Amino acid sequence: MSEPASSVVPHHVAIVMDGNGRWATRRFLPRIAGHKQGLDSLTRCIKACLARGIGVLTVFAFSSENWNRPPEEVSGLMELLALSLAREVPSLKANGVQLHFIGDRQRLSVKVQAGLTQAELSTAGNQRLVFNVCFNYGGRWDIAQAAQKLAGRGETITELSLDRAMALAHVPDPDLLIRTGGELRISNFLLWQAAYSELHFSDRLWPDFDEAALDEAIAVFRTRERRFGQTSAQLSGQPAPSTPKAA
Ligand code: IPE
Ligand code: IPE
Ligand code: MG
Repeated sequence: MSEPASSVVPHHVAIVMDGNGRWATRRFLPRIAGHKQGLDSLTRCIKACLARGIGVLTVFAFSSENWNRPPEEVSGLMELLALSLAREVPSLKANGVQLHFIGDRQRLSVKVQAGLTQAELSTAGNQRLVFNVCFNYGGRWDIAQAAQKLAGRGETITELSLDRAMALAHVPDPDLLIRTGGELRISNFLLWQAAYSELHFSDRLWPDFDEAALDEAIAVFRTRERRFGQTSAQLSGQPAPSTPKAA
């Protein structure tokens, strides 16, 4: 850790993009209008991550529990996923973004499933930004599917083997986890991977989360001391006050 803390950009940023519904309701619009605006906010956020040299962006787009919403909202979100594939993938591809969809795909339409695979294949060679979209995702689902995978192969379950079987095994754990929309909870996102993520809760609704809000989250991240169980003194390379001096 030779870099001064003040210049560090988090390598992996994860975001619970919450508040689309409230954004729309406050404008007397249908909730789906908020989700559409949320997609525009996501496009802006990806550009901002590219400009800031962030290596991995992981976003929560649809949770395992979001199926419990009114059917018209669920179908609107499925349509938005299909629309975003057609509308956004070409520019993601051109901008060096490597796309991954994380979650249980079996409940999605065959056409959308094919679209997700195609989008992943067409961006697989890109290296500038790894972009993970968690869709029909839950942290509990991920832990369970990883355990099932290991059991199926007859492998021993250890922290390392489970970690490697998780849906996000291709990226390191998030450094910074942001939740917009003012709620102070994790809502089944990255239960395993967020063990040592720095948490940042923003009152901004997701459609209003702009570059300045991202910069504020990064600035707060820079002030944090990540100790991973160690003491402050250990991190700065100094002996702890109680450490006896060597003879
Ligand atoms: C987050 O926004 C997007 C999804 C969960 C799909 P919400 O739709 O939860 O917005 P609020 O929390 O109701 O404002
Ligand atoms: C979390 O938001 C899921 C996504 C942002 C996709 P929710 O709005 O579903 O979370 P709860 O229900 O308020 O906990
Ligand atoms: Mg919400």
